[in-house]
Order: sequence, then C-alpha cells, then structure tokens
Amino acid sequence: MKDSGMRLQLSTWPEVEDYLKDSSGIIIPIGSTEQHGPTGFIGTDALCPELLANEIGERLNVMIAPTLSIGMAQHHLGFAGSVTLRPTTLIAVVCDVINSLTVHGFDRFFFLNGHGGNIATVQAAFSEVYADRSFGSAGQNRPSVRCHLENWWNGPGIKEISEREFGDSEGSHATASEVALTYYGYPEDGTRVKQDQLMPRLAPKGPIYDADDYRRRFADGRIGSDPTLATAEIGKELFEASVRHIGQAYEEFTAAL
Ligand code: NI
Repeated sequence: MKDSGMRLQLSTWPEVEDYLKDSSGIIIPIGSTEQHGPTGFIGTDALCPELLANEIGERLNVMIAPTLSIGMAQHHLGFAGSVTLRPTTLIAVVCDVINSLTVHGFDRFFFLNGHGGNIATVQAAFSEVYADRSFGSAGQNRPSVRCHLENWWNGPGIKEISEREFGDSEGSHATASEVALTYYGYPEDGTRVKQDQLMPRLAPKGPIYDADDYRRRFADGRIGSDPTLATAEIGKELFEASVRHIGQAYEEFTAAL
C-alpha cells in the first residue's frame, strides 16, 4: 500500500498542523462532471488533475486538497450525466474553500485545473478573495494570500507529445490527450469504453453557447477530436510530462517573493 499522507482527506488534523509549520501551500485539483463523447469518462476533467496532483503530492511533499469535481459545464447539460454549477455558485465554492483553509494558515493556493470552462470563473473567484481581503483590513500588513490557476495540459512537454501522437485529431473537447490520461489512470474502465472508430472520425468544430445549441452542433459531444487514438501508453507519457511541468510550476509559485 502506498502512503497517502499528503492527501488532506487522509490526513489527521495534527498532521495538517505539522505540515503548516514548514509549508503554507496546497494544491487543489478542480475539474468538472460532464460528458466527454462516447469514449471518454464523464469525470475526465476531474480525474486528470486528481491523478496528477496525487503523484505530485507524494513526490514533492505537498498537501493535496479534495478534488472540486463539479465545475462550470452548463453547455454539456444536453447529455446524460453532466452536472454543472452556475458561474456564481462556483465562485462562491472556490472562495469558501480558500477562506476556510486560510483560517488555518494556508496562503498559497495552487488550483490544478482540468476544464477550460472553469478558467474565467475561477479567476473571478480569485479576484473576489483579493477584494474581500482588501476591503476587510487593508493596511494591517497581514500575510498575503495568493492564488494560481494552472491547466494540466499547458506545459511544452505535454503539447509536444500531443502534437506528435495526435496532431490535428487532438481537438478541444474530449481531446485525445485527456482521454489517454484517464485510460492510463483507469486502464480497466478504459478498455471497457474504448472504441475503434467514431463517426465522423474527426468531430466538428465551432463556438459554445447554451446546452441545446451545443448538442445540435456537436452531436456526440466531442469538439474537433478523434479520441479513438487515445491509449494508456500515451497517457503514461502525458502523465510523466505533466507531473514534471506542474511540479515545477508549483515550486516556482510557492518560492516567489
Ligand atoms: Ni475535458
């Protein structure tokens, strides 16, 4: 059995107090619960950052918060199983999580994100946190709270693998890369859902509005991708590249003055 002591949910409160003597940083995986086409898991956007964060937590001794698994995914509601928070609800959730952990001494919040649809809302939540602090007691010289959002797929090493393996078939939703990463993390479920072919092979591209419009444009849920190219082997490569990149980004974030 692996020691999972760096996960907040498997820690005791005295362990968290001990951790805070040396570090005030925490990684918070944040994702979504939304359809990922006919061959991708509904939890893809939450599973990806969670898999990566748990590994980074062990390698770098960083505390990992529970995954915020439900995000801003209103446009996916036309497909069974998708669940969304309104943007304003997600802002409230993110603020409450940050403000709770701040009470105990955490002040470096690194959100590891798995869903493009969360970005604007999470950034708005960070602005709310800063505004609350500024209005609350500006001028008292309190230690600063800093928040950072990092998308797991953005590192140069990750792009390189995706371009080499998938090229134009990567797409922008139910991407071959994210599906590959989850097949690596959950190989038996990957085998269950994997298909040899989808029609059309390459999904259409286009803008995103509401859920009905989305379903009319993107009949099986994918945007621009061919996730049948995804394999657990490529997922392992993406995993290693992302763990390296994110780990470095976390260390730079927490070390910055
Ligand atoms: Ni996704």
